[in-house]
Amino acid sequence: MNLSPEEKKIGQDNYKEAVAGLNRRAFLKGTAAAVPGLGGLYFGYSALNGSPVKVGFIGTGDEGSVLLTQHPPKYMDIVAIADLRPSNRKRAFDGDGNENRVGLRKKLGAETCAKIKTYATHKELLEKHPEIEAVVIAVPLNVHAQITIDCLEAGKHVLCEKLMAHNVTECKAMIRKAEEKKKLLAVGHQRHYSVLYENANDLVQGGLLGDIKFIRANWHRNNSFPNKDSWNKPVGKEDIATLKDFDFKQWGFDSLEQLVKWRLFNKTGGGLMAELGSHQLDACSIFLGKKHPLAIQGYGGKNFYGVKGLGSIDKQEDHREIDDHVYVTLEFPGKHYEEDKNDIVVVTYSSINTNAMEPYGETLFGSRGTMITELEQNVMLFKEGGDGTPGGPGARIEVDPAKKGGPVLKTSDTNAPSTAAVSTAGALGGKVSRGYTEEMEHLCFCIRENNFESREKGGLRCNGTHAMGDAIMALTANLAMKKKKRIDFKESWFDPKSDDAPETDPQVLA
Ligand SMILES: NC(=O)c1ccc[n+]([C@@H]2O[C@H](COP(=O)([O-])OP(=O)(O)OC[C@H]3O[C@@H](n4cnc5c(N)ncnc54)[C@H](O)[C@@H]3O)[C@@H](O)[C@H]2O)c1
Repeated sequence: MNLSPEEKKIGQDNYKEAVAGLNRRAFLKGTAAAVPGLGGLYFGYSALNGSPVKVGFIGTGDEGSVLLTQHPPKYMDIVAIADLRPSNRKRAFDGDGNENRVGLRKKLGAETCAKIKTYATHKELLEKHPEIEAVVIAVPLNVHAQITIDCLEAGKHVLCEKLMAHNVTECKAMIRKAEEKKKLLAVGHQRHYSVLYENANDLVQGGLLGDIKFIRANWHRNNSFPNKDSWNKPVGKEDIATLKDFDFKQWGFDSLEQLVKWRLFNKTGGGLMAELGSHQLDACSIFLGKKHPLAIQGYGGKNFYGVKGLGSIDKQEDHREIDDHVYVTLEFPGKHYEEDKNDIVVVTYSSINTNAMEPYGETLFGSRGTMITELEQNVMLFKEGGDGTPGGPGARIEVDPAKKGGPVLKTSDTNAPSTAAVSTAGALGGKVSRGYTEEMEHLCFCIRENNFESREKGGLRCNGTHAMGDAIMALTANLAMKKKKRIDFKESWFDPKSDDAPETDPQVLA
């Protein structure tokens, strides 16, 4: 949505005004100063009862390095790391110049780092370190299931990066193994641990947007300039030299090129839906009360990299198999769907590679207001003007909490944020945490508390069963695009006890 800087500022002020107007959190009563981070306050955990959890990190590439940078030393004691690629083992300690990947040496100091052991494979890490209690896994999608199951089998709790697995049958195997071994299985959809999303969702569940019938979600990037495609990574000289006799097949890859560029191939990745779309569909399902979707259809194509003279712009040979533009439409049940099957909410999702004007986020169009989340950093809120008072991008709002039937948005009489909104903004702090630190803190807290309960009872907020729901949406989107058909979701796919899965469903495959 094209908003002026002034309109964006008003939208952000409106969001904070609404959080202040609706929020029941303790920090508004003046306790925020006593809480070191907001994560515990929002997600129901505190300092660890006991020593930090002994942890191993498996996969220290782009995302593993972010997680190492964000890991919470008061909750985690890193015993060892493992990565097949020498360059990424080095990067884990040295960082790479990016502020999100500063490296362990800068974060923990040389003395602590000297105690952290380094291995090439997850198997060596598991064999050498029986004392490790939990692992954080950030490896390519095709090996999520195998490595998670190996770690659970070795008696470790697991935090595995999203997308949970390459297919739904694998997701079910992971959940069952965690149950058999009585270990926790968390999956890294970090929006479950984002204070920004938690507040945004409070506003949605509080009814401030009215009836939501449409959500538009997207992740748009422009990789069309030369050498801009971060998924088509160069293979480094150090890795080529060191790994020339390495048996890649044993570890799930045909070659070093496939290990490095795993997102581009069907065997190793799940395309734009798995890598990007799963984040937005996760957010949409949170906003829609974590209900399972009813149906999906879509179009996907290699509309840039597959077109002669376009995708070869960077002059590199491009062997990609995945689509570079995807557009899907999902139908979700609305709040009254059980009583009336017309109550449908439509979510559209697009991910493209040739324009970044609208980068990423979700726009919720409600009968009383519009909410826009942007880049996991901002939320903007606008009121509809149909009640005769001003609405739309220029209007400042307040929350009228006393309305019969629940709180509502009303147009503000003043042209500045209220004192409560200013103090909310202060309590929320400057830089917004994306949730990585909080997801690791909470896993460690649940380990020490022995909490295997549901999220409603303080357990993991994104456990295997929830994450499988996200995987089902992303992977069924891929099937709908491949088969060029509308697919109805089956409840049994979402049940870990059932063997049913979209990729083996005769109706889907027909
Ligand atoms: N939550 C998020 O926002 C987010 C963002 C980016 C990536 N991710 C996820 O993180 C995962 C990793 O992505 P990435 O960008 O870091 O990929 P990457 O290619 O940069 O890193 C993956 C690393 O795993 C290593 N590896 C593979 N098999 C191994 C094994 N058996 N033992 C030890 N190491 C092994 C590889 O050598 C590689 O260095 C993916 O699942 C991706 O979807 C999540």
